[in-house]
Amino acid sequence: MEKIVILTGAGISAESGLGTFRDKDGLWTKYPLEDVATPEGFARNPALVQDFYNLRRVGAAAAKPNPAHIALARLQTGWPGEVVIVTQNVDGLHEAGGATGVIHMHGEIAGALCAFCGHRWRAPDEMQVAEPCPACAGPGGRPDVVWFGEIPYHMDTILRHLGEADLFAAIGTSGQVYPAAGFVQEAAARGIPRVEMNLDPSETSPVFTEHRIGPASETVPAWVAEFLNPAGG
Ligand code: APR
Repeated sequence: MEKIVILTGAGISAESGLGTFRDKDGLWTKYPLEDVATPEGFARNPALVQDFYNLRRVGAAAAKPNPAHIALARLQTGWPGEVVIVTQNVDGLHEAGGATGVIHMHGEIAGALCAFCGHRWRAPDEMQVAEPCPACAGPGGRPDVVWFGEIPYHMDTILRHLGEADLFAAIGTSGQVYPAAGFVQEAAARGIPRVEMNLDPSETSPVFTEHRIGPASETVPAWVAEFLNPAGG
């Protein structure tokens, strides 16, 4: 039975009230990403970076999954084939909506990582500068998110899933950040159908075989319904 691999970006969480990055008044229009989403920025001004993620962590914890997150979880339970969700998002809204096995290639804002010993733990709502690591007690606590210049997580697993996919979908991503933006090329190389759901055309739109334009809270449930009750009943 068909294996479906789905890549999501900030656009799927936009209607849950979480900002995107590159839309009008997106996060990167308010904070220079070099200052808040790079290891150099963290070394230069750890307080600014911790504050940036503290704000986003509290926002993400308060946000609710929207019909798009919930529809993908329904697809996972209702579709007889495997449904793998790979997200660039660091919020936990896929899981809050009932999804399982979500692959967070850019990490999770609810997680903390020790820059010294690599220990991971659940981040406090507010992380301090020199946040102490519960394992090594060193002052290396940082958000467990992948910054620009760092290697995304779980790439081997993601590429294996892409190699086994019968259908690829991308939801709410501008297709501007690699390696995620290259996943549709992998799918194209294998000649499988590729559907993009977005408010607007993205950088990688030409590589998709199907486009569903509109807010994810509408396009995703409609798309999922076609799998779960194909007769449209
Ligand atoms: N429904 C569907 N799509 C939407 C909606 C919505 N309600 N609102 C916005 N979008 C689309 C925009 O049209 C855009 O294509 O979501 C996309 C958001 O793009 P970005 O802000 O670039 O977010 P994303 O693609 O997830 O960024 C990738 O860049 O900064 C890094 O690590 C960060 O994971 C992020 C990565």
